[in-house]
Amino acid sequence: MKNNIVKSILWQDGKLFLLDQRKLPGHEEFIEQYSLEDVIDSIRKMIVRGAPAIAISGIYGMCVYLNSVSEKPDYSDFLMKIQNLVESRPTAVNLRLATEEYLNQFTESYWRESGLDRIRRDSETLANRFFEEDIETNSKIASNGADLFKDHTGDLNILTHCNTGAIATAGIGTALGVIRFLRDRGFRLTVYVSETRPYHQGSRLTSWELGKEGIEHYIITDSMSAFVMNEKKINAVLVGADRIARNGDTANKIGTYSHAIIAGHHSVPFFVAGSRTSFDLSIASGREIPIEMRNSDELTQNSFLKDSDGKNYIPPGILSPETALALNPSFDVTPSDLISGIITEMGVISPVNETEVKKLLKF
Ligand code: MRU
Repeated sequence: MKNNIVKSILWQDGKLFLLDQRKLPGHEEFIEQYSLEDVIDSIRKMIVRGAPAIAISGIYGMCVYLNSVSEKPDYSDFLMKIQNLVESRPTAVNLRLATEEYLNQFTESYWRESGLDRIRRDSETLANRFFEEDIETNSKIASNGADLFKDHTGDLNILTHCNTGAIATAGIGTALGVIRFLRDRGFRLTVYVSETRPYHQGSRLTSWELGKEGIEHYIITDSMSAFVMNEKKINAVLVGADRIARNGDTANKIGTYSHAIIAGHHSVPFFVAGSRTSFDLSIASGREIPIEMRNSDELTQNSFLKDSDGKNYIPPGILSPETALALNPSFDVTPSDLISGIITEMGVISPVNETEVKKLLKF
C-alpha cells in the first residue's frame, strides 16, 4: 500500500484535531476541538463525517471532555454527555455501538472505584484502540473485497458513491480501501465517482483522495449513473454503509439506492463494504433505520460551503431561490435483494440475507 494516506483525525498530546472536511479540496485545515460540545458540533456540521470517523472522533471527544474537567464528574453527568454525543447524527450506527462498548468498560462501579487520572488514561487507551482497530479492519475489508476480482482479467471500471475513504475512517477506507487494494494488485483502474449531492462527498472528497494517489477517475453527476452503467462496462459498484440491518438492508448516503436499482437493471454487481460495527443486529430490516433529515439550505443555498466572508468553498453552481422548499434526506436504504455481497473484515456475505449475516457475524 502506498504510504501517502491522508488522515482526518489527529490525537496529539491529549488534544484532538479534526480535518475540516467542509473545506476540501480547497483548504486542508485542522480544527482543534476544545470540548465535547465542539466535537458534537463538528459531527453535526459534518466537519468530520463518515460513519467510522464519526464514531472514533466521538470517543476521542469523551477524552477531551475528561481532560477538560478538574474533578471527576458525577456518573450521571458523564452518561448525559454520552447521550448527547450519540444523538449528534442518527443514521450511522457505528457511534452508538462504540459508545456501548465504551460504557461496558466505564460502568458505574468502575466510575466509583477509579480516580480521574485512571479514567482519563483508560478512556484514551480505548479511543486509541478503536482508532487502531479501524485501520486493521479497513485493510481486511480491502483485501476481502479485492479477492472478489482475483479471477478478473483486463481493466476494471468501478463506480462508487459518496466518500468511503481515508478521511471517513482511520485507515484506508472501506469501499475506497478496496479500490486502493485493486490498484495495488496491479489492475488498470478507472473509477466513476458520483458527485453525491448535496454535500459533494464524491466530487470534493473521493476525487481529492483518488487524485492525490493518481488513480484515474471521472466525476459524474448522480443522475449519470444509468448512462455510465449502460455505456461504460462497469464491472462493479462499490459503496459504504452507515447501518446494516439483520437481513442485510443497508442505509448509506442518499443516492445509493438508485445506483443499486440501476446496477440491478444492467446486471452489474453491487457491493457494500462495511465492518462489523456497521451492523445493527437489533433491527430486523431497513424499515427500522432512522433517516436523518438535514436542513434544506444544504440543497438550495450551499450555505454550509460558504466561508465567513460569504465566499463559497466550491463554485456555487445553480442555486435555487431562497424561498424554495427542499427535501433533504441524508441517507436511503438499499434492500438486501439488490446487494450482491457485503464485504466485511470477516469475509463476504453473499447471498445477502439474515441467515448469511448470522453465519458470518455469529450472533
Ligand atoms: O453524511 P456522511 O458523509 O457522513 O455519509 C457518509 C456515508 O454515507 C458513507 O458512505 C458511510 O458512512 C461509509 S464511510 C466508510
